[in-house]
Amino acid sequence: MMDPTKKELLLEVNDLCMHYSVQGGFFDKSKGLVKAVDGVSFKLYKGSAFGLVGESGCGKTTTGRLIMKVMKPTSGSITFYDNKLGPIELVPISNKKMRPLRKKIQMVFQDPYSSLDPRMTIQQIVGEPLRAGGRGELHEYKNKIADILQKSGLSPDYMDRYPHAFSGGQRQRIGIARALVTQPQLVIADEPVSALDVSVQAQILNLLKELQQVFDLTYLFIAHDLSVIRYMCDTLAVMYVGRIVEIGRSEDIFHHPAHPYTEGLLSIIPRTNTRTKPGKMLKGAIADASNLPSGCYFHPRCPHAQDICKNEYPPLRDLGNEHQTACHFDLKLKGI
Ligand SMILES: Nc1ncnc2c1ncn2[C@@H]1O[C@H](COP(=O)(O)OP(=O)(O)OP(=O)(O)O)[C@@H](O)[C@H]1O
Ligand SMILES: [Mg+2]
Repeated sequence: MMDPTKKELLLEVNDLCMHYSVQGGFFDKSKGLVKAVDGVSFKLYKGSAFGLVGESGCGKTTTGRLIMKVMKPTSGSITFYDNKLGPIELVPISNKKMRPLRKKIQMVFQDPYSSLDPRMTIQQIVGEPLRAGGRGELHEYKNKIADILQKSGLSPDYMDRYPHAFSGGQRQRIGIARALVTQPQLVIADEPVSALDVSVQAQILNLLKELQQVFDLTYLFIAHDLSVIRYMCDTLAVMYVGRIVEIGRSEDIFHHPAHPYTEGLLSIIPRTNTRTKPGKMLKGAIADASNLPSGCYFHPRCPHAQDICKNEYPPLRDLGNEHQTACHFDLKLKGI
């Protein structure tokens, strides 16, 4: 865990938006707007693990991909605080300038089956980020590849084999080795265990924790499962339809959730739901991002909704201790 007295910024996301223009359907030529990410702001501190949580479609992956510069946001800024170069604004920089930074920001993907090319050997897969943009030959990197495979819990003897020879858990170890081989500063892990058997999920989470210490990594950890986030992250943000509705230290949020949506998410964690009253369970489905409700997007599902919730979107409000929530009637203040 990081020392909160020595917080050093690594990445700052400010008012990030990704709006997609979409067509209604084959016969419906009207244009709609999907606000996949809509005004998201957060800070990542060196050595910390920051969790992004929310139901399917709330914009978690889009946020991660924007930081990876897979696509350009509609608006907003992403600042990377490089230890040598100082603050760098990632959105406007060219691919050429981004190239050296790519090695510093890596991603671990959800599906270890589709994210590894079946025609490449493990050595080629793990070595690829080292060569990206460079001219080096793979054999020059053999020691580095062997070392990171070992640290990821795989024998380097297998590096000439192909992905099909490995189990799901082992494949995810290969994906982790590939992300860490360039010695990145920031690792974005997008649902890294949700495609794995429950029995191997804990092993992979423990490996990620261990490697965080070994390499002094900062994680942006994406998951829909709050228990995974609780285990991995010191701070977290809860997203609902493209927006952050609650942000703060994990323990604060787990003990005193301020937003009814967070409370609903907590109620579906198997170990805690025995204590949750039925009225606080999450009902209904996530709002359609292309046809948003008026006011607070959560109001149609919210057990505490009042008239103001139907009319006004609540701004993020400070609750102290770096805890913020976007609710007109946050639970902490109202004692509901
Ligand atoms: N290329 C695209 N064009 C239009 N809409 C898109 C596009 N990519 C994503 N979306 C929409 O943006 C929203 C956010 O998607 P995103 O994949 O970021 O969600 P997520 O939180 O990662 O969900 P999941 O838990 O299912 O992975 C969804 O409504 C999705 O349908
Ligand atoms: Mg996703």
